[in-house]
Amino acid sequence: MSTTIAPGAAGSGTTPAREQSAAAAAFRALPAAGLVPRPGNHVIVVFGATGDLAHRKLLPGLFHLATAGLMPDRYEIIGVSPQDMTGEQFRHLARQAVADFGTVKPTGANWEAFQRRLSYISADPARTLPLVEAIATAERQIGGSPGRLFHLAIPPAAFAPTVSMLGAAGLAAGSRVIIEKPFGTDLASARALNQAVHAVFDESQVFRIDHFLGKESVDNILAFRFANGLFEPIWNRNHIAYVQIDVPETLSIAGRGSFYDQTGAYRDMIVTHLLQVLGFVAMEPPTSFDARHLRDETAKVFDALKPIDVRHAVRGQYTGYRDEPGVASGSQTETLAAVRAEIDNWRWAGVPFLLRSGKRLAASRQLITLGLRQPPMPMFRTRHGDAAVGRPNEIVIDFADPGSITTGFLAKELGATLRLSSVEMTFRYADFFGKASGLEGYERLLLDAMIGIQSLFTHSDAIERLWEISAPVLNDPPPVQPYAPGSWGPQPALDRLAAPYRWHLPRADSPSSNTEPLVR
Ligand code: BG6
Repeated sequence: MSTTIAPGAAGSGTTPAREQSAAAAAFRALPAAGLVPRPGNHVIVVFGATGDLAHRKLLPGLFHLATAGLMPDRYEIIGVSPQDMTGEQFRHLARQAVADFGTVKPTGANWEAFQRRLSYISADPARTLPLVEAIATAERQIGGSPGRLFHLAIPPAAFAPTVSMLGAAGLAAGSRVIIEKPFGTDLASARALNQAVHAVFDESQVFRIDHFLGKESVDNILAFRFANGLFEPIWNRNHIAYVQIDVPETLSIAGRGSFYDQTGAYRDMIVTHLLQVLGFVAMEPPTSFDARHLRDETAKVFDALKPIDVRHAVRGQYTGYRDEPGVASGSQTETLAAVRAEIDNWRWAGVPFLLRSGKRLAASRQLITLGLRQPPMPMFRTRHGDAAVGRPNEIVIDFADPGSITTGFLAKELGATLRLSSVEMTFRYADFFGKASGLEGYERLLLDAMIGIQSLFTHSDAIERLWEISAPVLNDPPPVQPYAPGSWGPQPALDRLAAPYRWHLPRADSPSSNTEPLVR
């Protein structure tokens, strides 16, 4: 597994970055810089090419891959959407998407070369011939036998019909298909969708995407844990008291009202992203990082997850949500979901995994926090009248690009008195590796799909298991509790969920608000 594209423009910390230990080198099933496999020639068909996801992520991502030299030698990209549009209009739209959201601006020879490879056809489920012909033309242009990758960036209700259409049109053999999320809305629908998919594609052709698993810092969890003697020995119930996977967003659901109102935060974020990240945090060391071994280990974690107890779930809805376009006036859909997950195995028994995500909250963050158990003996005095000397030791992985890892601990303040303060050690990607070498989650996963690496894509069994453990919350959801936009969600319910521990956010942003007496 690798995302290293080119030697990073190392910052002040060049020496540690270069001094790779034997263990780190062994972890590198990762090819070294410059050795990233280049995918074979490809026709890429993006369904939903005029939609939000294509605009924000896929078109800018494909262009970034092209400028990074990671696209195949020869490729063609065919956009498909219901809208009537000429190729020229589509290229214009793609240019706007890259200008709005790309890390590389659409100018110069790079853009000219890329845009020449973009074409468009309007989708008509009743007439597949234009699609078949467009693919045949693209294949002729490329020559030989290029790979074929379909990306279904379309509403979930259209996944099964589109897959069946591809089968009926004879386009499935030898192809790969990326399927967006949410993959189903519950166990029954996920099973039905898996059946529909397997009727056309073999599991080895199917790439169920969760772009969180393509994020550098999420991938780095595996390196952090399994390439270092420092952390893995404490990565268990003996030393870790709680784990939090917390993804608050300031974003509203603007522009996605009708999708979101059918989906809600639990399906949109908890099942789709946060539980997948939990799989990486909680897994046993895999035999290797190939798809089979990695997926085997996450499957074991998911098998050991207890069904989510309804009493361990909080649903919130921001005030004003029901006035958003596309949202039902009496909507009970949650815009915030928080749950306490429990893993019934030797490593994690009794350790709560708190997962939370919501829209229109006070901050946008993507944090994994591991809280370490406190020492058995309280040996230090607190300041008189000020119990707050620090938080528990926490390891905090910030997986929002560019990412960082912080370890918080207590240290003696300078001076004659033995008085403690919370301090931190932080690793920041930006300090060690050139940002230019990073791939965004979608880019990494598009590249992997073209190459055929399934390690970071979800297996059919895994997704079914996650819906299975979600059944209690989906079948009998707790009532939604209102919260003010810009707040931290419905209190005191969220605090009760975390008790006896506390959410790392927001107090981490305002250390003075911490009042937990850690040392006595
Ligand atoms: C998407 C969700 O999958 O992930 C969105 O549908 C969410 O609701 C988004 O905002 C967050 O991902 P990121 O990492 O791109 O901010």
